[in-house]
Amino acid sequence: MSEQEVLYEVADGVAVITINRPAKYNALNSSIVSTMKRLFKKAESDNAVRCIILTGAGEKAFAAGADINEFQGRDSKTIRPLTEGGQEFCTYIESMSKPVIAAVNGFALGGGCEIAMSCDIRYASANAKFGQPEINLGIIPGFGGTARLSRLVGLGIAKELIYGGEQIKCDEALRIGLVNKMFESVEELRNGAMQLARKLAAKPGVALALAKQSLNNSWEMPLNKNLKFEVDVFCKSFDTEDKDEGVSAFLGKREAKFKHK
Ligand code: COA
Repeated sequence: MSEQEVLYEVADGVAVITINRPAKYNALNSSIVSTMKRLFKKAESDNAVRCIILTGAGEKAFAAGADINEFQGRDSKTIRPLTEGGQEFCTYIESMSKPVIAAVNGFALGGGCEIAMSCDIRYASANAKFGQPEINLGIIPGFGGTARLSRLVGLGIAKELIYGGEQIKCDEALRIGLVNKMFESVEELRNGAMQLARKLAAKPGVALALAKQSLNNSWEMPLNKNLKFEVDVFCKSFDTEDKDEGVSAFLGKREAKFKHK
């Protein structure tokens, strides 16, 4: 596959990863998913990258789901590597130490919605549409949709969306908590996402990573264990240079300059 189907740019501590197959509404074929995996790993290991934005090329789609052409002729055995690979990718995004912002610039359907849900924060343009339409193909979400949508918006709404297979508009996605913030245009969305990414890129990286871990744990840990985990990582943050810098900057009435150490 040509590298051009996924674009990768780094500036000001922010990596922007763009799914670049606009003629097919950024539908996710296997090679796009494996290239994205590689690029997210590159961003994770690059110290100069402190925050990642994932978006789609053009103004129509973030990603209109897995490439349906790849479903033809597959059965339960031959589809398994594809769904396992997709899930593994989503879980990787979720478990990265750096914050990931989905800038949803149009359709986020099926796998597109599932990848957006594995990002930490979802910003979207008013033309964005969200949905898990798999039921209309006689299948169900397989990149983590049943698991993550129910956790994000509650079981009742998730069931309605997954059973009905309908798309919802951005304002509805905002209302149910699937989207953090809505922007009037795709251009405003891109600026807004970049502004947030630059802000997060300047925050202390170790503390961000620890907060992300503890927040993610709240999905699966009982409260008492999550609280214990929080105590452990809170203490850990006191062994960082950034904690010394943050506290002394506050007391010295100056702006902190974090080194992510
Ligand atoms: N897989 C493969 N190709 C896809 C795709 C997908 N998930 N989503 C869109 N495309 C392709 C279309 O086949 C079409 O290609 P073509 O121009 O070569 O025919 C192109 O993208 C544009 O899509 P089109 O359907 O003509 O645009 P539209 O504006 O009428 O509708 C959607 C847009 C997104 C509503 C519609 O394409 C759609 O329902 N896509 C599938 C969504 C889905 O079920 N996703 C979950 C998959 S598990």
